[in-house]
Parts: sequence; structure tokens; C-alpha cells
Amino acid sequence: MIQKPRGTLDLLPESTPLWRKVEQACFAVSRRFGYEEIRVPTFERSELYHRSVGEGTDVVQKETYDFSDKDGRAMTLRPEGTAGVSRAVIENSLYAGVMPLKLSYLLSCFRYELPQAGRSREFYQFGVECFGAARSACDAEVILLADGIFKELGLSPRLEINSIGCPECRARYLEALKEYFSACRDQLCETCRGRLEKNALRILDCKNESCKAISKDAPLITDYLCADCKTQFDEVKELLDAQNLVYTVNPRIVRGLDYYRGLVFEFIDESIGAQSTLCGGGRYDGLIRSLDGPDLPGIGFAMGLTRIILCLEQKGEPVPAQKPDLYLASTDPESAKAAFTLAQALRERGLCATSDLVGRSVKSQMKYADKSGAGYVIVLGDEELQTKRARLRSLRDGTEQVVDIEDPDALKKRIQEGN
Ligand code: HAM
Repeated sequence: MIQKPRGTLDLLPESTPLWRKVEQACFAVSRRFGYEEIRVPTFERSELYHRSVGEGTDVVQKETYDFSDKDGRAMTLRPEGTAGVSRAVIENSLYAGVMPLKLSYLLSCFRYELPQAGRSREFYQFGVECFGAARSACDAEVILLADGIFKELGLSPRLEINSIGCPECRARYLEALKEYFSACRDQLCETCRGRLEKNALRILDCKNESCKAISKDAPLITDYLCADCKTQFDEVKELLDAQNLVYTVNPRIVRGLDYYRGLVFEFIDESIGAQSTLCGGGRYDGLIRSLDGPDLPGIGFAMGLTRIILCLEQKGEPVPAQKPDLYLASTDPESAKAAFTLAQALRERGLCATSDLVGRSVKSQMKYADKSGAGYVIVLGDEELQTKRARLRSLRDGTEQVVDIEDPDALKKRIQEGN
């Protein structure tokens, strides 16, 4: 038997209604904030991720699915959405339109990580990106949007925020980090020893135990912020306070991708285990420029849908019902045809109606109707075809009413009244 690749997910019909509910909530809330959906390719030129996510990140160094296409071009399955969306903004000159440009997306991402609860190699992200607004009001609004989605879903993860500064304050901070980590160079993993020269910030999100232990006492970015970054960060906090949004400042959040600068944030819920970050985001003002686009500020976030679903399941959230409204049973080939036709007439009127497709006996058709969770059943036979009347039986309470089988509009009305 061929099995799915390790770390991928089959989302089965018993859970997809919950996924759909989450996805609809994400788009509905982001719509209220003025976001419009964008769809971008599943794979891009590898260079895009090298230049945006960053050569020195775990994602690019260890986790991307890379391949050469038939013309030998280096391609990568997207490990996240921001880079592809930014590329699309530049390539399609979306920056020439109305600003700020507010885009939302739902996409599958691919990272070769060690699979565990809440972490897979193919996973789904809902994200938003806002381009062309550098003010703290935009920072606060993006956080409110993520929070709004969690509220809509009845979840209340903890919000942690930080500022990782602009290139100027970051340079001073990187010097301090380099000095700190150089003193214990020998205890760092091999990758981090390399990072010491290239980008010491990345050592802070290394998963190696020894590196994690050393990172605990590393200098904090918040002690190195320049006046402008500090002001912007203070303004965001004020705006969130004014909205009574509870958060904590966590100076240890650095995020695992290189394009961030200024505000970064995460929504965390430990009840789902070690992979507890439900949503991560932040500002990335230099990204569009570095991809040969205009000097356009940007900020956004992405939430991991698998982790949100885990949270909802943990809470005992019921999977929304997806049951047929009516099952049309039949006793012989002639009435099976009539059932087939009536089912189609009801579907055209928006109901979910099914009939026998495998030639079951009436008894097993009734069993099937029960199992499928249909709200109503009608049995068509000789008599029903002759009189054009049949009994509409509720499978919920067993009550019956006589209906005209040649009047699908009236039948639909009856079914809807009973729902
Ligand atoms: P990220 O923190 O790498 O950020 O991923 C965002 C979210 O995706 C995580 O918080 C987590 O919920 C989910 N996620 C990440 N990796 C996995 C995995 N292997 N399995 C399941 N879920 C996962 C980004 O991707 C940025 N592009 C976010 C962003 C948008 N920043 C600005 N705009």
C-alpha cells in the first residue's frame, strides 16, 4: 500500500467542515478590515526565498523542498507566503494602485521539519500582508485583525510582542550578540558557529539544547532600540492598550525569518503542546526594496491552521453538521428513476438530497439514510408514483406528513420549515 509522505496530512470529511469554518472566519474577519484575497504559485524561484526569508535561516538552510525543473532552474516549494505575495506585488505593480494595499491568503506551505503534533511538512497558513503603511496604527490594526479572528473562533491565545529594531539599532545589537556568543563559541552547534559571523540573531532561534541554554542570558534587543524604534513600539502598545488588548512584551521573540524589522508578535496557546505558536508576524519594511521593488513598507502575519484546529478540537468544538436534508428511497427500478429525478429537482433548489445509487433493498436503503444522518426520508413505490403523493418522514422525531412529489418547491418548503 502506498502511504502519504511522512509529515503530510489527509484531511478527512469528518474534519473538513471545521477547517472550512476556520477558513471562512479568517476571510470574513479580514474582509472587515478591508483585505482582499490573493493567490500565488505553490513554487517559486529558489532565489526568492534566499533573498527574503534569508540564507542563514533554518527554513532556507535545512527545511525547503528544492528541485530543478526540466530546464535546470532552481525552484522551491513555498515555505511561507510573504515572499511570494511580495514578489507578486512587485511583478504586477500592485504598488501603483490604492495604498495601503491589503492582501489576505490561504495557502499550503512546505518545510522539511521533524513532524509532531502541530508541526507537519505540508501545512496550511492563513495570512495577511499590508503594504504601504509604516505607521504604528497599521501595526496595531494588523494585531487587532489576528485577535479578531481568534475571537471569532472563540479562542483566546496569549499575545506576545517585541520590537527587533531597524537596521541601525539592530547593527549595534548584533555586535553585542556576537560578543556574547563568541565568549562561548565552543558550546554552540556547528551551524550557530557559522551564524556567529553571518547573523548572530539566528542563534537565538536555534533548536539545539546547548545553544538554547546559552541564548537564555544573551543581551536583549529592547536594550538596544534607537529612539525612533522605541517611539514606534511605545505607540503600538498605547494603541493596543486603548483597545483593551492584553499582551506581554517578550524581548526574546526574534522570529525565524530574516526579513523582519521593528514590531514582531506571536499568539501562543500552550494547551496544544510544544508547537504552541498559532500565529506569527511582524513588520518587514525593507523586503520589497530588497526584491528590486519600490521602497514600500510592509507588515503581516500568518496563522497555522493545523494548530488552530487542534485548539478547537481540544475545546470540544463540534464539527459543523454536513448532513443530507432528504434521502429518497425507492422500491423498484421505476420508482428509483423518479427518486433520481426528484433528488435532482431538490438540489437545483439548494437542498442536499440523495437517492440510491447502488441498488440496495428498501431495508438497507433505510439503514443507509439513518447512517448518513439525513433529516428526512421519502420512500417511493408503485402507489406513490400513481397517486403522486408520498409520506415525508422526519428521521429526527418520526413524524410524518403527506407531500406532493411533483411539487419540489412545496416539498423544499416543508423540509426547510422542519429544519
Ligand atoms: P512563521 O512563524 O514561520 O511565519 O509561520 C507562521 C505560522 O505558521 C506559525 O506560527 C505556525 O502556526 C504555522 N507553522 C509554521 N510552520 C509550521 C509547520 N511545520 N507545521 C504546522 N504549522 C506551521 C511566517 O511564515 C511568516 N510568513 C508570517 C508573516 C506574514 N510575517 C509577516 N507576514
